[in-house]
Amino acid sequence: MLLKDRIALITGSGRGIGRAIAQLFATEGAAVFLTARTEKELSATAEEITEGGGRAAFVTGDLAKEADCRAVFEKAIASFGRVDILVNNGGHYGPVVPVEEYPMEEFDRVLAVHLRAAFLLSKLVLPGMYERRRGVIVNISSISAKAAYSWGSAYAAAKAGLLGLTRYNAAEAARKGVRVNAICPGPVTETEMSKDLGAELARKLNIDKDEQLAGFLESILQGRGQTAKEIAEAALFLCSEKASAITGQAINVDGGAVFY
Ligand SMILES: NC(=O)c1ccc[n+]([C@@H]2O[C@H](COP(=O)([O-])OP(=O)(O)OC[C@H]3O[C@@H](n4cnc5c(N)ncnc54)[C@H](OP(=O)(O)O)[C@@H]3O)[C@@H](O)[C@H]2O)c1
Repeated sequence: MLLKDRIALITGSGRGIGRAIAQLFATEGAAVFLTARTEKELSATAEEITEGGGRAAFVTGDLAKEADCRAVFEKAIASFGRVDILVNNGGHYGPVVPVEEYPMEEFDRVLAVHLRAAFLLSKLVLPGMYERRRGVIVNISSISAKAAYSWGSAYAAAKAGLLGLTRYNAAEAARKGVRVNAICPGPVTETEMSKDLGAELARKLNIDKDEQLAGFLESILQGRGQTAKEIAEAALFLCSEKASAITGQAINVDGGAVFY
């Protein structure tokens, strides 16, 4: 097992990519601490994991709220005693509008959920990791941080900010036994966020949503989207000792969509 006896805190783990990461990490021996806002999804995921013989606990919280982020960390410690792995995954796309129409309160919320929460949770887990001289942080960014798409500027800015945080945190942590990396997924078409975004883009472009999606997927080398499981496999690799020499990197798991 690649994560035997590790404790992993995974945000946004009630559904989608976060859920796939939690399930995979649990089968690889990690105890997983889940969090998101929707209790029903968290309890279903935790139940599936425990029924499969794994260890899981959860607490609800809104990543946009500093007090909730602190409570998530404290509950993770109360449940499992420490955090060896932090996966900053939770988030939403935000308004699908151009810059000049973007509401500032929505900009602040997108930045808070994706970037501020990842920063704060990193800040909270690092002292323990440094003390034990062991730990891994994975930030789930996006190809939106690297490419030039329209109508999601706050999301792209937050995801690009995560890449800067990844590199600086990696530099500070590298000689203290902690690795920090990012994953940039391409379109994971099965998730709620992806489906909602596809539907909204199609509506705005006045085209069929299947047509909109097919056009986008055609621009990718492999001509298809990625699965949540494929993103989870990359996260597992980065969090395992197999990636012991990898830090400060942003790895695209995108079927060949962007090239740096
Ligand atoms: N799907 C894609 O194509 C794609 C591509 C690149 C990157 N990503 C990134 O992958 C991550 C996961 O996305 P996904 O596609 O799996 O979407 P998803 O299925 O909608 O899952 C998002 C998760 O984040 C949680 N979340 C959202 N806002 C939150 C908040 N304010 N506080 C706490 N939890 C919150 C959601 O739970 P609640 O709603 O219950 O809070 C849910 O568990 C996101 O960071 C996303 O930007 C996705």
